[in-house]
Amino acid sequence: MTVLTLKQLTQSLAGKTVLVREDFNVPLDVTGAITDDTRIQEGMETIQYLVAQQAKVVILCHFGRPKGQVVDSMRLAPVAQRLSELLGQAVLYSPNSLENYEAFVASVQPGQVALVENTRFLPGEEKNDPELAKRFATGIDVFVNDAFGAAHRAHASTEGVAHSVPVAVAGFLMAREIEALTPLVPGMGQGPKQPFTAIIGGSKVSTKITVLENLLNTVQHLIIGGGMTHTFNLALGGQVGNSLVEKEHVPTALRLLEQAKAKGVAVHLTSDVVMAQRIAADAETKLGDSKTIPDGWEGLDAGPETLKAWEAVIAQSNTILWNGPVGVFEVAPFAAGTRRIAELLAQATQRGATTVLGGGDTVAAIGQFGMNPNAFTHVSTGGGASLEFLEGQVLPGIAALNPAPTLVAAG
Ligand code: 3PG
Repeated sequence: MTVLTLKQLTQSLAGKTVLVREDFNVPLDVTGAITDDTRIQEGMETIQYLVAQQAKVVILCHFGRPKGQVVDSMRLAPVAQRLSELLGQAVLYSPNSLENYEAFVASVQPGQVALVENTRFLPGEEKNDPELAKRFATGIDVFVNDAFGAAHRAHASTEGVAHSVPVAVAGFLMAREIEALTPLVPGMGQGPKQPFTAIIGGSKVSTKITVLENLLNTVQHLIIGGGMTHTFNLALGGQVGNSLVEKEHVPTALRLLEQAKAKGVAVHLTSDVVMAQRIAADAETKLGDSKTIPDGWEGLDAGPETLKAWEAVIAQSNTILWNGPVGVFEVAPFAAGTRRIAELLAQATQRGATTVLGGGDTVAAIGQFGMNPNAFTHVSTGGGASLEFLEGQVLPGIAALNPAPTLVAAG
């Protein structure tokens, strides 16, 4: 750990205004109800600690990608509600708290917790506007960054603000993530135990290109599941029916496969899939070859043959990183593949392999299957952040914090 942590702060926080950046970007269902509150639960330790210290706690958080505009469906009211239930005390929340930020912050009393409206409603947030960062820092004594999941974003509330406050430290969640993930970064200590396998799922190649490219430098096996697998199968001359594909990324897929070959990384795609004509719990499904999916049908989960092949890879791996579901796990007929991966990783953990899970959807899937996060070595609250961290990148939200105190030898 090279950054100063909340626990290491020696000054009293009683009556101090502490600004906490959290990543409470949780999934909602169509009615606007939170479907997985893991990120809020994980941030509780920091907030409860500050309340117990009688600090005035002000929380900054983004939600979704409103791109600098006010989007009503992305307001933080459901988060404020869940937070107050978990805390057992009212949380101050006002939809106007961005406009009236200074007055809102000044109204918070010792031991109270206030949640500011979605920071991404402001155009300056994602631009890391220094003026906005200064505004966020107004009246703040200490900044605590607990938003590991957003630490790869250099935004005003994650990075900029840290430079405008008297002291900026890592919260308990941030510290836990850094501590758990650091030993897996190549070049840090012994690096990951080999063989190292990454299982990358999710829908789009476009959002994971850099991650996939960087992983090729560290893993021996790359399992590609979820919607992404179809773009690869298409690139290999397959017929993918109505499956989700990014035609414009067929060349990217081919390039990645060539790079993998040159680096000696074995890439494992799906060979069979569960397909359907629509994504619905009562949809008719059938199993078939991933490269001959008929028109009108789409591949929505990994099939049994694929899972057997992946199982063999997982069984011989000593470090396994998993990010992204391998099927549409939210809909029952397409959940088996993701559930199987979760079970295989839990088994791998038991035999001593290091298993690291990350990404909102992956965490939500574990929750949906009723699995205990303790069944894995580490379940990260970060998706993109955990991947970038494991690639050895310096995350701006962490780099901006005060450095850890250096130990000076006595005498
Ligand atoms: C996440 O959900 O991974 C974080 O909250 C970051 O969100 P972003 O990808 O929209 O920046």
